Amino acid sequence: MEKKNIDWANLGFGYIQTGKRYVSNFKNGAWDDGVLTEEATVTLNESAGVLQYAQTIFEGLKAYTTQDNHIVLFRPELNAERMEASAKRLEMPPFPQDRFIEAVVLTVRANAAFVPPYGSGAALYIRPYLFGTNPVIGVKPADEYQFRVFVTPVGPYFKGKARPLSLRVSDFDRAAPNGTGHIKAGLNYAMSLHALMAAHHEGYDENLYLDAATRTKVEETGGANIIFVTKDRRVITPKSKSILPSVTRRSLLYVAKEYLGLETEEREIAFEEVQDFAECGLCGTAAVISPVGKIVNHGEEVCFPSGMDKMGAITQQLYDTLTGIQMGRLEAPKGWLKIVE
Ligand code: PLP
Ligand code: COI
Repeated sequence: MEKKNIDWANLGFGYIQTGKRYVSNFKNGAWDDGVLTEEATVTLNESAGVLQYAQTIFEGLKAYTTQDNHIVLFRPELNAERMEASAKRLEMPPFPQDRFIEAVVLTVRANAAFVPPYGSGAALYIRPYLFGTNPVIGVKPADEYQFRVFVTPVGPYFKGKARPLSLRVSDFDRAAPNGTGHIKAGLNYAMSLHALMAAHHEGYDENLYLDAATRTKVEETGGANIIFVTKDRRVITPKSKSILPSVTRRSLLYVAKEYLGLETEEREIAFEEVQDFAECGLCGTAAVISPVGKIVNHGEEVCFPSGMDKMGAITQQLYDTLTGIQMGRLEAPKGWLKIVE
């Protein structure tokens, strides 16, 4: 199969329209069979539930080309499971988990020419999403929904940022203690945009959000979980009901323990503690592991000893091991890679 003529090595994290996408509609209480289509445009009634009350959720995962030239998905069943949780929280009919995986596989296969080659540094980003389509005007869930999957080849999320990131502690809250922070709903991202633009305006790459109730504990950033490495080489990450259960973070904790022999902790982390840590990184499908060099809290700087020039040593080992597994250079734990073709 001939690959598209794309400058893979210089891709940023943007949308490039590919050949086919998957669509299935929910009507009269049931999902239809679903099809692959070339039609990239969605036409909706002016009062569709998604347009009026933001009834929309999404997922994000990647397909990689391995060293031995297979196209693989990384733990897609965890995305299927999380999307079901997101759907239930927003009163939407979940797209069945086995069909979610089947739809992702079909879409990736149909766009195999857009999957970046091994060694290019790029991957195929997969975006499943689900939204309310029929007219609603009183506040209530829609009765009809559409589930779609499109793909787009991507490079690094923080383009031009081979260097560690700088974060600021946000004065805005991301998620209420019993709100929607733990699901992947579009609304969580809509309300983060103002804070993100403000952070960029002040020269920061991203916001670090604290817990909304006490503003003392570290939560996550707008699009990634956060991990820290202590000076005695423990890998620790916040435990909170209001952060997204990141597939990458869960995988990294396993990798830290089982591949690198490091101790791991998932627990509440007071912002006060952060100054004592040796390394920091953001983790997610898009972010992979992006090193953080400093966090600024209202002018007060926390600079990690790993510095502003390179990844910390343990962060680098975590990055190499995780990407090694994803690209088939290291043996994956059983069930982590699903071969598409
Ligand atoms: N946190 C937020 C708010 C995100 O948007 C993402 C991206 O998906 C993550 C964390 C990382 O999750 P995952 O590793 O499953 O991609
Ligand atoms: C992802 O990592 O998949 C994300 O969804 C992060 C961002 C692009 C929203």
